[in-house]
Amino acid sequence: MDSTLRYFTLFLVAMTFALVTSCTRETEPAEGPDAPSEVSQPDEIPLIYHMSFISRYTQKLYFAGDAENWELADIYNHEIEEISEDIVARGEMHDGIDISQLMESMLLPQVERLEEAIDAGDRRMFLDRYNVMIQSCNNCHQSSDYGAVKVTVPESNSFNQDFSAN
Ligand code: HEC
Repeated sequence: MDSTLRYFTLFLVAMTFALVTSCTRETEPAEGPDAPSEVSQPDEIPLIYHMSFISRYTQKLYFAGDAENWELADIYNHEIEEISEDIVARGEMHDGIDISQLMESMLLPQVERLEEAIDAGDRRMFLDRYNVMIQSCNNCHQSSDYGAVKVTVPESNSFNQDFSAN
């Protein structure tokens, strides 16, 4: 073996070694404080946080609809719909109770009925359907073994927000 060939062989061995170690490092599971946290995955956000947002948007929806601010009511109703659809999609089970299935059958139809009232710009229809939605929230809490959570139709605006249309 002449010296050029020997160097070339050494070079190849070194490159192969470098490649193998870098690949191994990449596939190693990340550990320590810099590792990506499971909690940051959208699917891993606990249901109760989503419920808090649903609750907040449901209250705001009421004030917007009551003030006949249909553009704003539409925004909140869509938010409720999107969060609900995410819960339906994630296959949430709580102690053998299919929360996702309940969400689909109990809340989404109410959201759609509210959308009709918002599109029609009909305050009376909106308020009636809003009441029915709140009952559905509580019915589902009962069915999910969370009957302790009782939501109500809001009475006064505690938000630092003006819900009027103009
Ligand atoms: C699929 C059935 C279901 C429906 C429909 C539902 N919820 Fe819930 N809700 C739950 C469950 C289950 C919990 C408890 C979650 C947990 O502890 O992990 C909960 C918790 C809550 C909480 C407690 C969180 C907090 O911030 O205090 C509130 C408030 C709430 N829901 C409001 C609502 C509102 C408002 C609606 C209707 C617009 C609604 N929920 C519809 C099942 C449902």
